[in-house]
Amino acid sequence: MDLPPVGLGTMGVDDPHVVETALDVGYRHLDTAQIYENERVVGEGLASSDVARDEVTLATKLWIDNLAPEAVESGTQASLDRLGVEAVELLYVHRPRGGYDPAGTMRALDTVREQDLTTHLAVSNFTPAQYETAQAHCETPIVANQVEFHPLFQQQDLLDHAREHDYTIVAYSPLAGGEVFDIPEVQSVAEKHDTSPAAVAIAWALSYDNVVTIPKASSRAHLAANLAAADLSLDPEDVRLIEGIDREVELFPE
Ligand SMILES: NC(=O)c1ccc[n+]([C@@H]2O[C@H](COP(=O)([O-])OP(=O)(O)OC[C@H]3O[C@@H](n4cnc5c(N)ncnc54)[C@H](OP(=O)(O)O)[C@@H]3O)[C@@H](O)[C@H]2O)c1
Repeated sequence: MDLPPVGLGTMGVDDPHVVETALDVGYRHLDTAQIYENERVVGEGLASSDVARDEVTLATKLWIDNLAPEAVESGTQASLDRLGVEAVELLYVHRPRGGYDPAGTMRALDTVREQDLTTHLAVSNFTPAQYETAQAHCETPIVANQVEFHPLFQQQDLLDHAREHDYTIVAYSPLAGGEVFDIPEVQSVAEKHDTSPAAVAIAWALSYDNVVTIPKASSRAHLAANLAAADLSLDPEDVRLIEGIDREVELFPE
């Protein structure tokens, strides 16, 4: 699946104008989830934008209370109704918890795919072993694993696994929820390139060939800056400096 390098994370977005502005600025990948309780907001922003529906990759995630096999189809349909669309392009298992049962849930997702309620299937917060188990129970290729990925939580093993199995890592919380502004290594790379730590964190995530990212932003200025960060090219020593950070902060532990 061909995802744009930078998409919009919408956790905490409660105003359709943010989504409309993002599309106006050039975003073409919108990421929401049932648990964010803003699918209606995202749908409204998409509907009121001048950007055509078929230009946008719309992603949502089934929360753990909709992962029991018998809940998958109705849960998906409820999301589509809130979003105001016939189908999404990307449907995720948000976490391998709650009603998640690899065989039953993944078979139900195959069915939802066959019904064209989604174009692609994906998972989120899965370990390599959990990804492989899910794929073994599902005929549809699992095209992405959305995971926490930023300079304080690097997950290099998962990048290798994604490369080996040919799926995309969708890096969430690429700005570590704002903490990247306080990391000296990121600050020094930002100073060198005369840019912001946010841009460096995004460019660093994108320096890996199988990674795209979904920073959340609210203002037009932040939205535009994050999208433009895809054009910032870091030097190999910048990437190595950030890779060498030995502190770890996981914002969303299982
Ligand atoms: N799959 C999962 O389990 C999971 C879990 C967590 C998150 N996610 C996804 O990942 C997305 C992003 O993660 P996140 O919301 O945790 O954090 P994030 O994207 O790392 O950081 C967002 C924060 O950074 C600020 N910001 C954004 N651009 C900036 C810029 N250019 N300069 C300065 N500050 C900037 C935002 O403020 P403003 O809003 O004021 O611009 C916001 O406070 C979420 O929205 C969600 O879609 C997925």
